[in-house]
Amino acid sequence: MDGNGRWAQKRRRPRLIGHRAGARAVNICIDFCLDRGVRALTLFAFSSENWDRPQDEVGGLMKLFTGALEREVDELDRRGVRVRFIGDRSRFGEGIRDRMAQAEARTLQNDRLDLAIAVSYGGRWDIAQAARSLAADVAAGRIGPDAIDERAIAARLALADLPEPDLFIRTGGELRISNFLLWQLAYTELWFTDLLWPDVDAATLQTALDDFARRERRFGLTGAQVGGNDETAE
Ligand code: FPP
Repeated sequence: MDGNGRWAQKRRRPRLIGHRAGARAVNICIDFCLDRGVRALTLFAFSSENWDRPQDEVGGLMKLFTGALEREVDELDRRGVRVRFIGDRSRFGEGIRDRMAQAEARTLQNDRLDLAIAVSYGGRWDIAQAARSLAADVAAGRIGPDAIDERAIAARLALADLPEPDLFIRTGGELRISNFLLWQLAYTELWFTDLLWPDVDAATLQTALDDFARRERRFGLTGAQVGGNDETAE
């Protein structure tokens, strides 16, 4: 969800105003997913690296997250959204950790939309924590080193219970993944827009879905194997 800071700067307002506008776009995005039957949505709200931003911005974002949680959790629950947080929770204060756990417990039984909010998250952190968990099992003799294959790693990652993402959307004009779901994005379709996150609306998201629907996904097979026409495509 990139571009909140620039959105505010363009209006000569503090960056936090941009993050607040970004929170409104989050609601639009969740509504869109519920409306179109998208079953899983993962939002990259705060990266492992974002902790190094100026303290007032980090503090303001934390307030925004807790405020949004308090305000929105009833409505999310009512609408059948299951909420979870992925990332290194040990870096948050106890108050925020408790609120996250409460929101997760409260919405656990819902099944219309799996909403994952990545906070203090990094794709490298995710792979490292999976490796650590497998190493602990090897050290304790519960599994042998030979048991560590792609499936075993995938099973220890955040979002292990969900299918890999179909579509990745990045706003704000940068053409990079920036340490998001590194492992899980192996065959995800990538979609970029210059629009700043607070300017994203349902029409933007629909354009992304329409573009996605026109892509041929081959997962390493040939076009002929997946039912397309191009025999030479990889
Ligand atoms: C990146 O834009 C955005 C963030 C670091 C924060 C994202 C947070 C929200 C959208 C707030 C609401 C979220 C939830 C889940 C309630 P940037 O600040 O790096 O933008 P810039 O590149 O223009 O400076």
